[in-house]
Amino acid sequence: MLPAGYTVRPLEASDHAAYLDTLRVLTTVGDISEADFGELWRYWTRHRDIFHPHVIANADNVVVATGMLLVEKKAIHGCGLVGHIEDIAVAALEQGKKLGLSMIAALAERARGAGCYKVILDCASRNVGFYEKCGFEHLGCEMVKRFH
Ligand code: ACO
Repeated sequence: MLPAGYTVRPLEASDHAAYLDTLRVLTTVGDISEADFGELWRYWTRHRDIFHPHVIANADNVVVATGMLLVEKKAIHGCGLVGHIEDIAVAALEQGKKLGLSMIAALAERARGAGCYKVILDCASRNVGFYEKCGFEHLGCEMVKRFH
C-alpha cells in the first residue's frame, strides 16, 4: 500500500525536527527543544504498553507522516483494552499518496495485535470521508470542555 521506499516504523528520538514539522499540518505544536522532545520520547518509551507513536519515513528516513495509538486498559468488558488513534498528520506535499490510509491500517493492526476489542478516534467533519475509506464508521458525537 505504501509508495516504494516509504516505511511505517516506531518514532525515534532523532526524528525530533521532522516529526514536529509534520504535526504542524494538524495543529499548533509550539517550540519544543530537542531536549524536551527527548524527554517526551523517553516518557512514551517507559510507558510503551500505553503509547505507540509511529511515523512514516521516506526513502531518506525523513518523517513525512505521524500517528499515535494509545492503549487504554478498562474495567468494562472484562478489563478490556480499547485503542485510541490520535495525531494523524501527513506532510502537505505528501498528501494523496495513501500515507494516511497506511498509517491508520498500521495502527489499527497494532491495536488488534495488542488485544484491543475496538479502536476509536475523534475527527473533524471534513475528515469523516477519509476515515470511512479507512474502514471506520460514524458513531455518536465528539464533546469538549477546554481549559486553555
Ligand atoms: N475527506 C474525504 N476523503 C479523503 C480525505 C478527506 N478529508 N482525505 C483523503 N481522502 C481520501 C482520498 O481521496 C483517498 O481516497 P481513494 O482511496 O478513493 O483514492 C483515501 O481517502 C486515502 O487518502 P490518503 O492518500 O491516505 O490520505 P492522506 O495521506 O492525504 O491523509 C489526512 C489524509 C491524514 C486527513 C491528511 O490530509 C492530513 O494530514 N490532513 C491534515 C491533518 C488532519 O486533519 N489530520 C487528521 C486529524 S484526526 C486524528 O488525528 C484522529
